[in-house]
Amino acid sequence: MTLPRPIQWTGTGTVRLLDQTALPDDERYRDITTVAAMREAIAALRVRGAPLIGIAAAIAVTLTEAGAGAGPTLEDVRAACSELDAARPTAVNLRWALDRMRHRAEVAVAADDPMAPALRAEAQAIWDEDRAMCERIGEAGAELLGDGDVVLTHCNAGALATGGIGTALAPVYVAQRSGRHIRVIVDETRPLLQGSRLTAWELGRAGVAYTVIADGMAAARLRRGDVRCVLVGADRIAANGDVANKIGTYGLALAARAHGVPFYVAAPRSSVDLAAPDGAAIPIEQRAAGEVRGFRGAASTPSGAEVWNPAFDVTPAELVTGYLTDGGLLTARELGGLAPLSELAVR
Ligand code: MRU
Repeated sequence: MTLPRPIQWTGTGTVRLLDQTALPDDERYRDITTVAAMREAIAALRVRGAPLIGIAAAIAVTLTEAGAGAGPTLEDVRAACSELDAARPTAVNLRWALDRMRHRAEVAVAADDPMAPALRAEAQAIWDEDRAMCERIGEAGAELLGDGDVVLTHCNAGALATGGIGTALAPVYVAQRSGRHIRVIVDETRPLLQGSRLTAWELGRAGVAYTVIADGMAAARLRRGDVRCVLVGADRIAANGDVANKIGTYGLALAARAHGVPFYVAAPRSSVDLAAPDGAAIPIEQRAAGEVRGFRGAASTPSGAEVWNPAFDVTPAELVTGYLTDGGLLTARELGGLAPLSELAVR
């Protein structure tokens, strides 16, 4: 099974990103050497997916330029974290990873340890932990899947969105590794087509069977009765289990409920924000009108059409059958039992 590597980094001053805006036609890589370039890459969705932007931002902190003197100071690191944190508001993984980097810098200063190796070690740990969490999500989710099952997914919550085998797609990959054949129905995911451009490309490389549908076809497909479950990722899960994920997820959850199809949200604990009591507390990113008015230069509305373009929506907890986490399959109530982010950060 061949999965893409959206980030390549060997602890040096350069990190190589697979530019996801160019897929699927063009497998193009970008070398990032500054915090500003990484902020641009995150904001433009060259690198995307909640866990992956946390990892990318953590690595970018290691690229912090020294303001004065030999290496970056705590102030330099704090400034880099603030700059990266402003790139996108909804995925809590970004802030979580940057909090860890800032904390590691503070510990290094307090212990009089050299800053650069401490930052590199923390960024690598964030990546390694994400890879392990993806595996555990995959193992928990694969128990739900049998040979020949069909699942439906939205957006891309696979290897292109994480440091490992993905979240929503991880159960599919684990099932496939053990010889079960799964077909994935892939929502196109308007307006930026993360489903048809990215998920379809990734599944094809992995040798997983897929069928692409336009978003408006999902309810009709669920009515057919051949979909075992819906699997989606999350950008942030509030304490009550409400889920912010790619725009269109809420409608999919409503359709799944109407047709009695189980709806699972797959996410690592770094996507759980116990400080947000419910979905109303989650900031929703609004993106440029041009993303809805057309794609790659081809207009799909009259020029200047008024549009509304929230990048995410909130699915209420009552529509979620279960949460596939690195701590296993949980109910909304059990999410609070996952180790709080602060404890993870302070290890
Ligand atoms: O705007 P994107 O492409 O970053 O949105 C991605 C999603 O909504 C994913 O479903 C989510 O980040 C989970 S990725 C494992």
